[in-house]
Amino acid sequence: MKAYIQANQDRFIAELLDLLRIPSVSTDEKFAPDVKRAAEFVKDKLVAAGVDFAEVCPTPGHPIVYAEKIIDKNLPTVLMYGHYDVQPADPYELWTSPPFEPVIKKTILHPDGAIYARGACDDKGQIYMHIKALEAMLQTNSLPCNIKFMIEGEEECGSSNLEPFIKANKERLKADVILISDTGIIANDCPSIESGLRGLAYLEVEITGPNRDLHSGVYGGGVANPINTLCEMIASLKDENGMITIPHFYDKVQNLSLEERAELAKAPFVLEDYKKDLDIEEVSGEVGYTTNERVSIRPTLDVNGIWGGYTGKGAKTVLPSKAAAKISMRLVPDQEPEEIAELFQKHFESIAPKSVKVVVTPHHGGYPVVTPINSVGFMAASAAFEEVWGKKPIPTRGGGSIPIVALFEKELGLKSVLMGFGLDSDAIHSPNEHYGVFNFLKGIETIPAFYRHYAKMMK
Ligand code: BES
Ligand code: MN
Ligand code: MN
Repeated sequence: MKAYIQANQDRFIAELLDLLRIPSVSTDEKFAPDVKRAAEFVKDKLVAAGVDFAEVCPTPGHPIVYAEKIIDKNLPTVLMYGHYDVQPADPYELWTSPPFEPVIKKTILHPDGAIYARGACDDKGQIYMHIKALEAMLQTNSLPCNIKFMIEGEEECGSSNLEPFIKANKERLKADVILISDTGIIANDCPSIESGLRGLAYLEVEITGPNRDLHSGVYGGGVANPINTLCEMIASLKDENGMITIPHFYDKVQNLSLEERAELAKAPFVLEDYKKDLDIEEVSGEVGYTTNERVSIRPTLDVNGIWGGYTGKGAKTVLPSKAAAKISMRLVPDQEPEEIAELFQKHFESIAPKSVKVVVTPHHGGYPVVTPINSVGFMAASAAFEEVWGKKPIPTRGGGSIPIVALFEKELGLKSVLMGFGLDSDAIHSPNEHYGVFNFLKGIETIPAFYRHYAKMMK
């Protein structure tokens, strides 16, 4: 396996760079033809790797690529899930090389080089490992189970067409476990596996004051300024301990036992390095929890964007009519996104002063998930890391969200193994996203090890 990967690694990387050149931004309609092109590319590469069957399934939105390699109906089946769509690359001017013209650069964390491009880590680089792992297993006659691939093009915009696809294809998607590489590890010398993901509730709020923009001298001081009001309302959503003030927000939050927290605290974490990396003097968050806990097992509320009034060059003295913001809440078991969105909406409307009108619009959300560390899938992933990386991986809880994972559980009755290989420092969703060549190649080696251990443990 290792020899096959080594002999072909330059081609593997070159093919990934071709995929990264396709700007498959799912949230922006103008890229729809590119998204389709990326789907075709993924399908073609699955066929070239040796699947029995592959197709690009159209949806009302972006297509889903489905493929399968069935070697023996009596062997276990793994359903691989990933996404070929990417986040917008904005702001372009902060990229040191263009986001869709991948280049390999050496860095301190990536002495073997890292591939710089939008989607390099999230998630094109990681789905491509699976396609090349299949190729390597077939070429070395070592595929030990059946594999199904479901690679979608709408993960970054809510996976809304994947739900009907799953419901309509339950028989076809039958499997024993789901394998996903769309998360990360602690460090290249410290492998880890995420045993859970946070959920998400996302809303937009708009505050309207006077019926038009006003001269801030003629009216200023006498009329509520919607931007000021919005800021006050948002500021009131957290108290001095960093706790969210929305009534009943914490009602369903599962508090971890001291033992569970002690287990998670085993993950190495150096606060000084964390602050240095982000160039901040102090961290901040909920009192009584460590930084690692704040970003994984605790819920959050954050403004993702805020706008209103005059933001152009120079000074314009204006009292705006409107102000708006996008607000997200990361959720932990057993919080429910619809319920939290409703609690937010009710509360936000209730704290608005009479001087303004408020409109709250919920966006897509997602449920939190947990994969037990004593499940066969998790243990197989753990054994695969141990074999290939020479170290037992540490179980962690992830802070990000893959909303569709909870749906897999509900609709297909399957748990997901989150065997991701990215690093927090890979800048996913940010300018200069990158993915280590080491991580890419090591991932291609770890995936076949997972299949081998999984098939053996299922016997
Ligand atoms: N791959 C990420 C999620 C992720 C990143 C999980 C890092 C764990 C560690 C995924 O593509 C993503 O970006 N999810 C979105 C949710 C979606 C609804 C836009 C997120 O977490 O913001
Ligand atoms: Mn992703
Ligand atoms: Mn993402």
